[in-house]
Amino acid sequence: MPDKIVSNSELPASLETSDEWIRARTGVETRRIAGADQATSDFCIEAGRAAISSAGLQSSDIDLILVATCTPDYSIPGSAPSVQAALGISAGAFDINAGCAGFVTGLSVATSMVASGTARNVLLCGADTLSRVTNWNDRTTAVLFGDGGGAVVVSRCDEDRVGPFVHGCDGDRVRTLLVPAGGSRKPVDEESLANGENCIFMKGQDVYKHAVDRMAEAAVTLLDGADPDEIDLLVAHQANARIVSAVAERLGLREGQAVSNIAGYGNTSAGSIPIALSECIADGRLKPDMRVMLVAFGAGFSWAGAYLKWGLPQ
Ligand code: ACO
Repeated sequence: MPDKIVSNSELPASLETSDEWIRARTGVETRRIAGADQATSDFCIEAGRAAISSAGLQSSDIDLILVATCTPDYSIPGSAPSVQAALGISAGAFDINAGCAGFVTGLSVATSMVASGTARNVLLCGADTLSRVTNWNDRTTAVLFGDGGGAVVVSRCDEDRVGPFVHGCDGDRVRTLLVPAGGSRKPVDEESLANGENCIFMKGQDVYKHAVDRMAEAAVTLLDGADPDEIDLLVAHQANARIVSAVAERLGLREGQAVSNIAGYGNTSAGSIPIALSECIADGRLKPDMRVMLVAFGAGFSWAGAYLKWGLPQ
């Protein structure tokens, strides 16, 4: 995570908003914001080192690096080559862009790579630096986002522990949540800059409704008739505390089954799930062999879910 912490109480100086509104409508209290010299790969490099070490591996054991992000260091290339170079790993490296669903999508790709024998140990990072594409004059988006990331290692073992997965997309809604300029459709020029089109544009209520519906549906599909009580932890993308609560309520989960940590970080996009997993390991909520469900939803609209048994076999 970047060191810089920005609390809600600092935002009304430049935006017509309040700590009360942000807390009540989003659950966010503080967010981390990247320093001028930081980029997405910096979060991946630090988290990647920690993940390799906690997996009991050396950098040389990693044979593929995936970075899930929609805010790479550069438009070209992705962030994965910078992570590969900094960690000194001799391996293939590429990015996956599925917005806020990037980490779960990346987990699916990593798992397939391991299952097909293409790789034995995949380093998967999920990170974003949304502050760089946030319009700090737009109160409907500026209060929501934060920067940061996390990482996991997906390794070969004799038991199927990761999966099944579900993936979905509703590309008719591309324009409901996007950065309109800076891609191949529209360059960043004077006009797009003046219109703020180099930043995130979002129809928040549409995103909210679809996020709840699609993540809850994905979870039901993954459960395949099983009792939701069998889930030890639901780690949903941290888009808004109310979205996470609504998904948990739809599934009839008990108190504490669904992780909510948006208060400290805001919506960190592809970073949110690995950051939450890392916190749960640190505070003892996540232990080996627990059943973990991951669901995520974001730009595209794209969504993904995974049901897995955490950790290496005990
Ligand atoms: N401070 C104060 N008032 C505000 C703010 C703010 N920051 N933002 C909006 N308002 C006002 C609105 O103008 C509106 O005022 P009005 O009633 O006078 O018109 C009122 O508050 C209510 O606005 P709503 O949009 O109805 O508020 P809502 O409860 O829907 O919350 C929010 C808005 C937080 C954006 C919510 O819709 C949401 O979380 N949506 C999902 C966002 C998300 O997950 N995005 C993912 C993007 S990340 C990615 O994929 C890269």
